[in-house]
Amino acid sequence: MSLNYQPGFGNEHSSEALDGALPVGQNSPQKVPYGLYAEQFSGTAFTAPRHANRRSWLYRIRPAALHGGFAPFEQAAFHNRFDEVPTPPDQMRWSPFPQPAAPTDFVDGLFTMAGNGSAATQLGVGIHLYACNRPMQGRFFYDADGELLIVPQQGRLAIATELGLLEIEPQQIALIPRGVRFRVELPDGSARGYVCENFGAPLRLPELGPIGSNCLANTRDFEAPVAAYEDLEGDFELVAKFQGKLWRAPIDHSPLDVVAWHGTHAPYRYDLRRFNTIGSISYDHPDPSIFTVLTSPSDSPGTANMDLAIFPPRWLVAEHTFRPPWFHRNIASEFMGLVHGEYDAKDASAGGGFVPGGASLHNCMSGHGPDAASYAKALAADTAKPQHVVDTMAFMFETRFVIHPTRQALDAPQRQRDYQSCWQDLQKHFDPTRR
Ligand SMILES: [Fe+2]
Repeated sequence: MSLNYQPGFGNEHSSEALDGALPVGQNSPQKVPYGLYAEQFSGTAFTAPRHANRRSWLYRIRPAALHGGFAPFEQAAFHNRFDEVPTPPDQMRWSPFPQPAAPTDFVDGLFTMAGNGSAATQLGVGIHLYACNRPMQGRFFYDADGELLIVPQQGRLAIATELGLLEIEPQQIALIPRGVRFRVELPDGSARGYVCENFGAPLRLPELGPIGSNCLANTRDFEAPVAAYEDLEGDFELVAKFQGKLWRAPIDHSPLDVVAWHGTHAPYRYDLRRFNTIGSISYDHPDPSIFTVLTSPSDSPGTANMDLAIFPPRWLVAEHTFRPPWFHRNIASEFMGLVHGEYDAKDASAGGGFVPGGASLHNCMSGHGPDAASYAKALAADTAKPQHVVDTMAFMFETRFVIHPTRQALDAPQRQRDYQSCWQDLQKHFDPTRR
């Protein structure tokens, strides 16, 4: 497979790994070139509005229908059981999870942290960590429950998909549409990171309103793969996630056999370092919605099922302004991770706690904000001078529904049970005699 990409987001791509494999002028001719099968792959309803419609035509060696029967496959740590235990309203934080001791591939290395909604209702998300040290061998995976937003934190991933190869490194993301079959290989031998399994509407770019026709994540920086097929036969396994459970079926060939494809529905990758950050150039700072990379809309206008927001390097220039993220409580719920460096609302020199590979969860109406050390630093800052926030890449999966941690996440030894103490040193400064 060669490394090549087609730029653009949600536009009509076309690619062929063999000259002339793409039919011309029609989607399903009586005879497809090279004896291929034509198969339509739809990611939205047939009648979804044109701007939101996602579908591709795949020209492949064998149709996706060819495999054996599915049997239950128990992978205890990867599931969608978000109602196992009552969800406490506490602020929560976790240290990074260790690499597995035993040989573990991407599928076996998935650990469900939290989630909401369900695959059955096509609303909500599953939030997972992955840690793996072995490529997927003789095994392919697809998720019928949602698209997979993969955020690597350590180690590159080479994701061989039906529509071609995506290679990503930390500070890049990959999106695997619902149903796309893939295999994950590990160019660095091991990898770990975060996965958002989005049960809702496919992620898309946010509208820009008065910002105009550029900025935030620019369309041209999204990259879909080019067609790359393998013609392999063997004793393989197809793992499916369907209605919250894993299943496996024998398959006697590689399903990564798409020789040519065209359409609007494809995996893609994006480099978070290309995000064109917008901020205040006078005073105060805007709501963090200005950091939205991708959004999965819900049926309520302006209220996303899920947003991916990032906090990348940027300049802070707002005068006489408290510059870190302010203290807040939201109707939305926030799961955060740190890919690289330090996050500017939590002071690493004061004991840290939010470190690369770790995670935090602040649910609906749970107050949070900068820790005591970051607060003191921000209060003392000279805001006549700009501040360059460097060496950082934090992200947030923000959802409209409360994010329920799983039992295994609540009980994990990595959970920092003293997290709330980071605010305990915030002193009372109130004095009614001194304005
Ligand atoms: Fe927050």
